[in-house]
Amino acid sequence: MSTSHEDTQARLPDTTLPAASSCESRRAGLLLKIWDFPCKKKLGTSSTGLLILTCVFILLFHHLGIVRRGNIIMTSPSSDKDLRMAAAIQDNLNASTRGLNSQCKMKTNLAFLKVHKAGSHTTACILQRFGYEHGLNFVLPKKCGSANLGFPEGLTKDRLMKQDVDEYNMLVHHTVYDRVKFHQLMAPDTQYVAILREPLSHLKSAFFYFSIDSKLGLSAKENPLGLFLDNPWQYVTKRPRGLMTMNLQSFVLGWKDRYNVTDDDREEGRKFISQLDSDFSLVLILEYFDASLVLLRRLMCWTFYNILYDRQPRNEQTYYKPASVYTEHQLKNHRNLSWVDYQLYQHFNTSLWSKIQAAGSDFQGELEAFQQLNDDVNSYCAGRPTEKKTFPASKWNEAVEITPEFCRDLKNTRKKWDKKICQRVHEHGKDRMI
Ligand SMILES: *[C@@H]1O[C@H](CO)[C@@H](O)[C@H](O)[C@H]1NC(C)=O
Ligand SMILES: *[C@@H]1O[C@H](CO)[C@@H](O)[C@H](O)[C@H]1NC(C)=O
Ligand SMILES: *[C@@H]1O[C@H](CO)[C@@H](O)[C@H](O)[C@H]1NC(C)=O
Ligand SMILES: *[C@@H]1O[C@H](CO)[C@@H](O)[C@H](O)[C@H]1NC(C)=O
Repeated sequence: MSTSHEDTQARLPDTTLPAASSCESRRAGLLLKIWDFPCKKKLGTSSTGLLILTCVFILLFHHLGIVRRGNIIMTSPSSDKDLRMAAAIQDNLNASTRGLNSQCKMKTNLAFLKVHKAGSHTTACILQRFGYEHGLNFVLPKKCGSANLGFPEGLTKDRLMKQDVDEYNMLVHHTVYDRVKFHQLMAPDTQYVAILREPLSHLKSAFFYFSIDSKLGLSAKENPLGLFLDNPWQYVTKRPRGLMTMNLQSFVLGWKDRYNVTDDDREEGRKFISQLDSDFSLVLILEYFDASLVLLRRLMCWTFYNILYDRQPRNEQTYYKPASVYTEHQLKNHRNLSWVDYQLYQHFNTSLWSKIQAAGSDFQGELEAFQQLNDDVNSYCAGRPTEKKTFPASKWNEAVEITPEFCRDLKNTRKKWDKKICQRVHEHGKDRMI
């Protein structure tokens, strides 16, 4: 690891523009925009001259920032990037542990690509809690409480609740990633995060959750998914969006074509993954969820408290998943059908493990300390407490005080958080049309 690289990468995410100015910088960028998002300022006319001057500087600075970032990404292979990211994460940890040093600045801008049936509801709730507690601005669907911010058609202006805010800090609802639109919409230093799940396990979950077995008249059979995988093409090609069974994870991340991946498409698939690799700071992997969260906390300079979660999975109890074994032929069909998802998963699972390996020898200790705390808090909350309780500090965290209110928050669903978040938007008059 070259130290100059580490330094550059460690500093990059912290190039925060003054809070009030990022709106202007995006405003000034309007000329180049395909899309204009609501972006409102509250400044008197006397400051207009100053504003224009500021805009020019910020725009210049902003562009330089992008160029620097672009160079670094373009010239380095992904494993190098993982190493640098891990070093930055390690730096953050050193600085954030027990507040010894204020170098590690809590990051608050995050776009989370919510992949269906991959633990993304649980993750979204963690992020909603963080955003609510820190008074952050969420990109929200026009209809409060809706889960849908543009799936499957993608983000469009008329999907969004119009809000009178300087900048958007968080996005956690279902939509489809589009790098141009996202970069226009979100604050300039936004961290991009997604979650993926092992593709076969993902298919099993999606197939039964979306009742595809009954839609195909297979629900009375002994092994509906096996029958489907005997010849998936006879079903999927006739249905819109391939019945949520083909490359669904890639689709959420912007892969346009969910039908057969031809040999020509493979090259495009590789480019697609490599672009995501440079856009996304971290891709969580459901199979290693706790380790993923610890990396997230390091990346964002958050605390254990910020990543505590309800161990009861969301949406888990409501549907039935028969256990089955699959033939080699069926598995091969699935690998062919969802080729991009397999590539994507393999890439980002490898990348997660490089980050873990590069995160230092105390990563395992930190992971165990987090799991212990999360278990303890979950058990405490399961007893419906009426008194608050303090959980002890460790090498990686300060003592954590958990209140009965926090226990209720921990159980909140995405929809309950939406209600709280929308209510605050209304109270603050942030939903005026612009
Ligand atoms: C972080 O601290 C550990 C031990 O305290 C040290 O070994 C490591 O070099 C430090 N990392 C950085 C990037 O400063
Ligand atoms: C996709 O590929 C499968 C297996 O090669 C084939 O049976 C099917 O007809 C193809 N479908 C389309 C829409 O090309
Ligand atoms: C899927 O199978 C078809 C037919 O065997 C083949 O032409 C195609 O290249 C395969 N696609 C992938 C991505 O393996
Ligand atoms: C993820 O990557 C690790 C490290 O390479 C490997 O041991 C593990 O089997 C992979 N997990 C899955 C589910 O493929």
